[in-house]
Amino acid sequence: MKRAWWKESVVYQIYPRSFCDSNGDGVGDLQGIIRKLDYLKELGIDVIWLCPVYRSPNDDNGYDISDYRDIMPEFGTLADWEELLAGMHRRGINLVMDLVVNHTSDEHPWFIESRSSQDSPYRDYYVWRPPKDGREPNNWVSHFSGSAWQYDEATGEYYLHLFSPKQPDLNWENAAVRREVYDLMCFWLDKGIDGFRMDVINMISKTPGLPDATPVTSDRYQYGGEHFLNGPRLLEFLAEMKAEVLSKYDILTVGETPGVTTQHALGLTDAQDGALSMVFQFEHMHLDAAPEAGSSRRTIRKWRLTELKQIMSRWQRDLEGRGWNSIYLGNHVQPRPVSRFGDDGPYRVESAKMLATFVHMLQGTPYVYQGEEIGMTNVAFETIDDYRDIQTLNLYREMVDEKGLSPEELMPIVHAKSRDNARTPMQWDAGPNAGFTTGTPWIKVNPNYTEINVEQSLADPNSVFYYYRELIQLRKANPVIVHGAYDLLLDDDEAIYAFTRTLAHDRLLIILNFTGDTPVFSLPGDLKFSGKALLISNYPVDEAQPLRAMTLRPYEARVYRLT
Ligand code: NOJ
Repeated sequence: MKRAWWKESVVYQIYPRSFCDSNGDGVGDLQGIIRKLDYLKELGIDVIWLCPVYRSPNDDNGYDISDYRDIMPEFGTLADWEELLAGMHRRGINLVMDLVVNHTSDEHPWFIESRSSQDSPYRDYYVWRPPKDGREPNNWVSHFSGSAWQYDEATGEYYLHLFSPKQPDLNWENAAVRREVYDLMCFWLDKGIDGFRMDVINMISKTPGLPDATPVTSDRYQYGGEHFLNGPRLLEFLAEMKAEVLSKYDILTVGETPGVTTQHALGLTDAQDGALSMVFQFEHMHLDAAPEAGSSRRTIRKWRLTELKQIMSRWQRDLEGRGWNSIYLGNHVQPRPVSRFGDDGPYRVESAKMLATFVHMLQGTPYVYQGEEIGMTNVAFETIDDYRDIQTLNLYREMVDEKGLSPEELMPIVHAKSRDNARTPMQWDAGPNAGFTTGTPWIKVNPNYTEINVEQSLADPNSVFYYYRELIQLRKANPVIVHGAYDLLLDDDEAIYAFTRTLAHDRLLIILNFTGDTPVFSLPGDLKFSGKALLISNYPVDEAQPLRAMTLRPYEARVYRLT
């Protein structure tokens, strides 16, 4: 086992726009986060991953950056940011910043220069191509609907944007672009930050020639992932970044990497040769979508627990002793875990705790997304007018306005999958706007805030919050939880997810009921032990009860130490 501070940490993700508004403009901000640092300290997390706070026209809420070295005025100033960093470090909390360098904003000075003329020295900072047969240079679809190419009248060429037209892709083939990125990384690292979360970092190398996506279906635009995910020069670019920047600092780096297999992940996170500490894999995020869909957000599919087991077990096994996992069920682009994998009705509290046990008991670094620690749920706004996310709004335009689907057909998908599920304001108390703002929030608060909020959680010793806190403390006290090897039990069981974690002579048994039913847990015969001690559970447990065959309660979770 190789130790590293980022393996032993729990990361808390903040989406600043929705976290806490200190000045009543309806938008969360840095001073708001500063106010809540003691709350996060009480939870016990070690690291904050802060979604982008840089200057941005906010076409995609900060993932479209127009100045990498300044703070978005809505969020505050560089001085506020310095205060935040100092306040975190004083409390022993590390800061991981979001690094968004697959693309910039179209309002970034590099792009303004680049589009000004074909002869601009910045032209080659982006991916420009002449029209092909009077149309786009290839058939790739953007992640936010429509073509991934935008025609620019001024110079008669198209530029590539894998996301919105206001997010032109940088051309990583250009060494000057890479130099700029390394410089801006050092700008923040030299201010004392503790790492980067790298936005869609496995999209930076595209297949030379930018060929059409295949197979071509009746849709004009196709998902081109085969030509921009894990591309031919990805590892080379990251090795260069490691030599120029990463190797000089003791930092946490996590790559957001859609479409990675465990083999890719090993290349990226191998303890010797990899450039990154860990990556976010997406396989379990596609479980509840039709397999052929490029985006998991367009369809809903019933999933089976055995499928989740196969995915997670493969990741646990393949990275063991070589790379490192990050473990998450939710973030700012995913639905709320309790609505997606648990029960946001009668068993909300039990299932939120069960899922938390799952995340914290796997091998890897756990990530907690704001609000998860109080069991916040998805939202179901009645009309599309209450949604704010560019991806959701574009999907609605495409499917309803252009392709003629009825709103009644699309809204259930929006309710289940919209990124806005994660972006309704943090629910601090039962007062107006859930205590998020004294003004009008930029997006409506989930109406369930009167029951689900931080104030309530802190007042209830049995709350989801205190359960998370206990899990985090257990992880710190027991190296087996961080480093132990994972072994799956009951492979074929569709209700119970059970596994062991083993480090030398220390062994834990984790039993999780993923259903609202009462299945019977039968201990596999080959698991030998003479004694057991309960470490944590989400129901009162009679410790004298033998493990051999026991009936689990809905969404029950138990962790035992076996001796
Ligand atoms: C992935 C991020 O998680 C998402 O929020 C963003 O819209 C895209 N990358 C584009 O930056």
